[in-house]
Amino acid sequence: QSLQGMVAIDGFPLPTFRMEPMQRGEVIKSIRSWTIRDDDILLATAPKSGTHWAHEILSMLHRGKAETISERFTLLEATTEQEFASAPSPRVLTSHLPLRLLPDNAISKIKIVLVLRNPKDLVVSKYHHMLGMRSYDYTGAFKHFLQWFLEDKLPYGSWFQYVREMEAIMDTEPDRICMVHYEDLKQNGIEQIKKIAQFLSVDADDQFCQAIYDCCSFENMAVKKLPPKDLQDKIWKPGCSFYRKGIIGDWKTHFTVAESEMFDEILAQRMTGSKLKFRFSD
Ligand code: A3P
Repeated sequence: QSLQGMVAIDGFPLPTFRMEPMQRGEVIKSIRSWTIRDDDILLATAPKSGTHWAHEILSMLHRGKAETISERFTLLEATTEQEFASAPSPRVLTSHLPLRLLPDNAISKIKIVLVLRNPKDLVVSKYHHMLGMRSYDYTGAFKHFLQWFLEDKLPYGSWFQYVREMEAIMDTEPDRICMVHYEDLKQNGIEQIKKIAQFLSVDADDQFCQAIYDCCSFENMAVKKLPPKDLQDKIWKPGCSFYRKGIIGDWKTHFTVAESEMFDEILAQRMTGSKLKFRFSD
């Protein structure tokens, strides 16, 4: 089954975010020249790594308030230059784009928070995302979807390449990037929030970090961060949303033993030389 509503950029498919594909393509290609401010932060994630959750945490740290705002965030690649330029500081720029498509000075100028998630849970989450979102018009079986993931054919292209490129920044510019694992946020959230706060030079005592952690719990976000009902129904099929399960290890209910073994092998091959370690169970 082919995917609907995509535009090919740099050799890989991207969602068009409610724009004509050609027009969205032009906008995305122009992002490299957009103007970054010194107090911007880049939240870099592969899709389904916990982007919404991390965005909420970063926004609270950046604003200095443990409070949910009703406004929903827009991915950098889903916005326009005008919207981008008129957003007030401090901005959290959130994107799944690979480095070569991001504003040229993003890497040399601003701090980056990278959130990673174990790729088995990520692919399951992505599968449900694409089944649930009306725009993809997708109904395929998990085994085919898994194959697409392993062949780098899903939206945003290769997860392996994305992660490896990000890891390379950690080697060359370790002070500019803070890496957080979804699994650690889940199990050791307050410590991780403190780590991010320190990286961003934000004064955050235990009480403030705890308040952010509570405010951003899965249960709270699944209620407070849902779009208005009419919009939700327009974007998602019934019973589906960004807030699905929010757990570690759901892949075990989707992968067969053979699929899991094959995945481990491919992961080991494609991550040869990487120091990244992923946790697949809690
Ligand atoms: P699942 O589909 O496994 O439930 P993204 O924001 O990058 O699209 O990632 C979405 C994934 O993060 C979904 O995973 C979603 O449930 C999970 N998630 C969202 N908010 C969360 C939270 N506060 N705590 C834990 N997981 C959360």
